[in-house]
Amino acid sequence: AQNCLNDKYRPQLHYSPAKNWLNDPNGLVYLAGEYHMFYQYYPDGTVWGPMHWGHAITSDLVHWEELPIALYPNALGDIFSGSAVVDFKNTSGLQTGGDPPLILIFTQASGNTQLQSIAVSNDRGRSFGFYAGNPVLQNTDKTINDFRDPKVFYMNDKWIMSLAVKNKIQMFSSNNLKNWTKLGEFGAVPLQGAHGGVWECPDLLSFTLDGLKLWVLLVSINPGGPNNGSATQYFIGTFDGRQFRKTGIYQNLWMDWGPDNYAGVTFSNEPKNRKLLIAWMNNWDYGQVLPTVAWRGQMTLPRVLDLQRIDGKPRLLSTPAVEVESLRNLAQFYETTRPLWIRSRHDFTNDLQFNNSLLEVDGVFDTQLTINDPSATFSICFYNGLAEEVCVGYNFGTNNLFFDRSNSGDTSFYGNFGQISYANRETRNKILQLKLYLDTSAIEIFADGGYTTMTGLFFPTQLLTGVRVKFSSGIAVNQLKILSMTIRGLKS
Ligand code: FRU
Repeated sequence: AQNCLNDKYRPQLHYSPAKNWLNDPNGLVYLAGEYHMFYQYYPDGTVWGPMHWGHAITSDLVHWEELPIALYPNALGDIFSGSAVVDFKNTSGLQTGGDPPLILIFTQASGNTQLQSIAVSNDRGRSFGFYAGNPVLQNTDKTINDFRDPKVFYMNDKWIMSLAVKNKIQMFSSNNLKNWTKLGEFGAVPLQGAHGGVWECPDLLSFTLDGLKLWVLLVSINPGGPNNGSATQYFIGTFDGRQFRKTGIYQNLWMDWGPDNYAGVTFSNEPKNRKLLIAWMNNWDYGQVLPTVAWRGQMTLPRVLDLQRIDGKPRLLSTPAVEVESLRNLAQFYETTRPLWIRSRHDFTNDLQFNNSLLEVDGVFDTQLTINDPSATFSICFYNGLAEEVCVGYNFGTNNLFFDRSNSGDTSFYGNFGQISYANRETRNKILQLKLYLDTSAIEIFADGGYTTMTGLFFPTQLLTGVRVKFSSGIAVNQLKILSMTIRGLKS
């Protein structure tokens, strides 16, 4: 929704900085009517460089205002990822005025050394001062260089920090945000989850399921994602204030299976108590060579996380925050009034009676065919007049979802950018629901109410405004049954 410099790929629904390089969201926090988002930012170029904390605010979660850079590198190093809290009880003693201070907790990196520092704002996040006693936490194991991305929350009168330490997550606690004591650790012994790359950006979240408190630990991993490169895995378990323990035996779980969802973390002090997450919509495999001009890097929509059962199994689900609905253009609305049967394709473009490359699509599909055909697929494709398209599909045989940008425009900047991404659908439910948000250069896919999600970028030569559904089966009698289809135009 912010559009200082003209660029045809500039997202209209998603946050991007006016200029230069952005990666992880940092310090997501709500304070006094404003949601603050800080982020990894390099102000002198469109590739990763000495990290600063960029800064933006919003009151409605969809229209962001970019503010001046919050943190610049200093003698202790560059400013890597971290979190923010409102210190309501002034445990830090850093409050100077009448209101509780905002405390930023982040990694500083210099050469092979990574340590944790804090900074404070006493003016509602408009100016920031480094704490004079930094660093507040240093690595005692000199054989490990990775010691970063502190995510802090308050529990039982203590601050709890989760920290990414190479191939594991370490927990620390503090009374004052200045002195930290090591608690337990998770991930390396015994080995848990995916380890195709370094662990980064943890977030430990509590949920209530079946009347019991359960915890979810988010861990970003790069590389080693389910479709190459960066992705975020999660673990379900317990946390006793010291130690996270995984419960149950299950395969690796992925918060999002798409190629472009990384380093997602949740807001602190969220006024509705939601687990509200924003992620970097990119992948380290090619993040620095995306064909955008003025800037590089954008964020996902805000998403609400929840833990619920599907087919009996506890699973994390993500849904777009309700605030995203405020982007609907109420004059642009299409819905089917009865089921549609599709032999090979149906083009919705003319049905729409509007032309928009910003779309919200809700489709409900029957995954049971008249005659079983494991080779059958269907897809919803967004296309332009140059025969470029982005498709989101379903494979009847494998029960997989897929995201296909192989023919989406510019894919030349990175060899594997055009490869198809797959997600294992979390349910065998006969009815498949798909919710899609289409932006100029990105799509977010929520299946079955958000149990399986995919996020991906694409770079078409012209905007994608056409919408069609394709169905293919080797058995002539088979048709795709679309139970309903709703397509809405959105505004920036
Ligand atoms: C994740 C990450 C973090 C680190 C930051 C540096 O994308 O590698 O682990 O703090 O980016 O920019």
